[in-house]
Amino acid sequence: MPKVGWIGLGLIGKPMARRVVEAGFPVTIWNRTASKADDLVRAGAKIAATPREAAAASDILFTCVSDPPALEAVLWGADGVLAGLRPGSILVDSSTVSPALARRVAVACAERGAEFLEAPITGGTWGAEKGELVFLTGGDATTLDRARPVLDHLGKKLFHLGPYGAGQTIKLAMNLLYALEVQALAESLALVNASGIASEKLLDVLGSSMGRAPVLDVKAPMMTSANYPPSFPIRLMDKDLGLALELANQLGVPLPATAAARETYSAVKGASPEDVDYAAVRSFWRK
Ligand SMILES: NC(=O)c1ccc[n+]([C@@H]2O[C@H](COP(=O)([O-])OP(=O)(O)OC[C@H]3O[C@@H](n4cnc5c(N)ncnc54)[C@H](OP(=O)(O)O)[C@@H]3O)[C@@H](O)[C@H]2O)c1
Repeated sequence: MPKVGWIGLGLIGKPMARRVVEAGFPVTIWNRTASKADDLVRAGAKIAATPREAAAASDILFTCVSDPPALEAVLWGADGVLAGLRPGSILVDSSTVSPALARRVAVACAERGAEFLEAPITGGTWGAEKGELVFLTGGDATTLDRARPVLDHLGKKLFHLGPYGAGQTIKLAMNLLYALEVQALAESLALVNASGIASEKLLDVLGSSMGRAPVLDVKAPMMTSANYPPSFPIRLMDKDLGLALELANQLGVPLPATAAARETYSAVKGASPEDVDYAAVRSFWRK
């Protein structure tokens, strides 16, 4: 069994790491807040003092951290991954970052004789718990094949989408679609409620015309109860809309609806004292 390293025990990273530990792989973990690893250590994982130490102990090292600055910190920071990565090992990054950063990481790994797999994910925290994530990989297909024995415990579908950058590009395109869909539902509810009609009436009609849709099953109940426990926090969706707009700007592609949505997501993120799910965009109209 390959020795696995894991960096990032956030909302989605932790259930992924737990599955790898429970599958019986020897796992070495590093997380900025070390206490989040306590239960995984009790389940058999080892703890590393630095990202560098986790990398040096691993045949396959996973990173799943919040955003581009976090990934840069764990890779290039003091005692970072790149100082410990062994030649012949594989770095798999499941964070959502920019395609440009994915390409930079690939170059840095190649300079150290290691392989890189760009592997952002979709499927949510519930998909992570069940091992039913979808991986959007970019890079060499042979690297994907080498990482498959671990990825098979985490995902139900492993897409290989092209060269480095392709996985992150598809991920950002998906997230802008989800953000607009959730914002569209929030706008519809605002219009209906302002007319004195109960949310349930719109949702009943939508349910019979759209059928089962995640926006209705998962996000609508949060909006009607104004209770937004974070599964995919609005701070991460705001980050992804920013990354999508940055990419669009580089490519010269106008994204007017995304730019408008980012304004509401940023406003709600800025006004939220707690870490709330992105369905909280509904509160933009409630105020
Ligand atoms: N949640 C989802 O449903 C979901 C779905 C698909 C993709 N994603 C993507 O997956 C990635 C992780 O998501 P998540 O939900 O697990 O995020 P999260 O709950 O915010 O966790 C972020 C992780 O990054 C670490 N981190 C943040 N800044 C850091 C820094 N400067 N140095 C070192 N570590 C740092 C955090 O460490 P601490 O524990 O010390 O804070 C934590 O382990 C993100 O890129 C997100 O966009 C998430």
